[in-house]
Amino acid sequence: MTTGEVELRRGLKDVYLDRTEVSFIDGQLGKLLYRGYNIHDLAEHCSFEEVISLLLYGKLPTKDQLNQTLSFCASNRAVPAPVLQIVEMVKQAHPMDVLRTAVSALSAFDPAVEDNSLDALRHKGMRVTGQAATIVAAHFRIRRGLTPVAPHPTLNHAANFLYMLYGKEPDPDEARLMDVDFILHAEHSSNASAFAARVTASTLSDLHSAIVTGIGTLKGPLHGGAAESVMKMALEIGKPANAERYVKELLDSGGRVMGFGHRVYKAEDPRATHLRERARRLGEKRGHPEWYLILENVEKAMEPYRRRGIYPNVDFYAGAIYHLLAIPEDLFVPIFTLGRIPGWTVQVLEQLEHNVIIRPLLQYVGPMDLPFVPLEERG
Ligand code: ACO
Repeated sequence: MTTGEVELRRGLKDVYLDRTEVSFIDGQLGKLLYRGYNIHDLAEHCSFEEVISLLLYGKLPTKDQLNQTLSFCASNRAVPAPVLQIVEMVKQAHPMDVLRTAVSALSAFDPAVEDNSLDALRHKGMRVTGQAATIVAAHFRIRRGLTPVAPHPTLNHAANFLYMLYGKEPDPDEARLMDVDFILHAEHSSNASAFAARVTASTLSDLHSAIVTGIGTLKGPLHGGAAESVMKMALEIGKPANAERYVKELLDSGGRVMGFGHRVYKAEDPRATHLRERARRLGEKRGHPEWYLILENVEKAMEPYRRRGIYPNVDFYAGAIYHLLAIPEDLFVPIFTLGRIPGWTVQVLEQLEHNVIIRPLLQYVGPMDLPFVPLEERG
């Protein structure tokens, strides 16, 4: 290791780590493809299960293949009773911390935990995706003093999640909205949480550990936690007329507007395009257009930042949608997780295909060769 001149890329900005066949992102054009298919086509025409199949098997499924995925997912959502007991024990924690703890505990009950074969990884990825929804919904109910609702035997991932939250089959439009939300969050190349999951997988650890790593990394407000911060901001703003002043004061004091900016997108994040229109329509349907209008005014106030490539990201309108679905803010990042587990899984699959342990360097800039001082002589 050298202490001399090195090419240092803080935050690994613009560093390519490997090749991928999963997601393509053109940050200048605001374009996102999963396995070659445009996110706009997938969000308009597919279900989340079709996208899971596309990501994990590399091709859009036939009807038979899709039915197999649907049936595998639907019959693997149950969570062992001891894991629900752990949820009960830690119910006062943030739902993301509860989810991280419970997914970690799931590994103790998964007979295939150490199996890193391709099929075992795909099956575990689908299993944990469904079980994570069961955990988030169970915690939502337990902390309200309600009994958890067992997973539905036939509903898809999105409808089943809403069913387990509220104990009744959801409105089909709202279930579809959640389905699209999961599709938009499913995969996004080497973002911070997927990179973290890859680092864990690169040591030949197991998928549960990689997913737990992903959950811990996604939680932060600079990553998946931004949707929660956006909705808190909208609540603080209170009404559309206050948005411009709020943004000005925030930026003048050196703050950042959450839900804006992206390491890769320097144009509109195509996922935000979908969520913006859906948030507007849902607000009108629910008789609460104000949240959309507040966010629209924040977006207007941020227009000068477009010149610097700072646009709304996927998290900006997602929070308003969840809020309108009566979901509390601290569930926003767990919901992101329920969409993202297939993405982490496929990143792990790719990592293990040509594995090399991920181990970058840090340039040492501290003191050298100091004389050692015994404890009793230190002042
Ligand atoms: N509000 C105001 N200014 C911003 C914002 C923002 N949201 N985002 C970036 N900037 C400014 C920075 O202050 C910086 O300005 P400077 O050059 O004058 O210092 C410049 O844009 C570049 O910002 P960086 O932090 O260097 O960009 P980076 O690529 O490292 O960060 C990030 C990307 C973390 C997403 C950043 O844009 C941010 O903090 N956004 C708010 C949090 C957020 O919405 N995160 C969700 C991202 S999407 C996702 O993870 C799912």
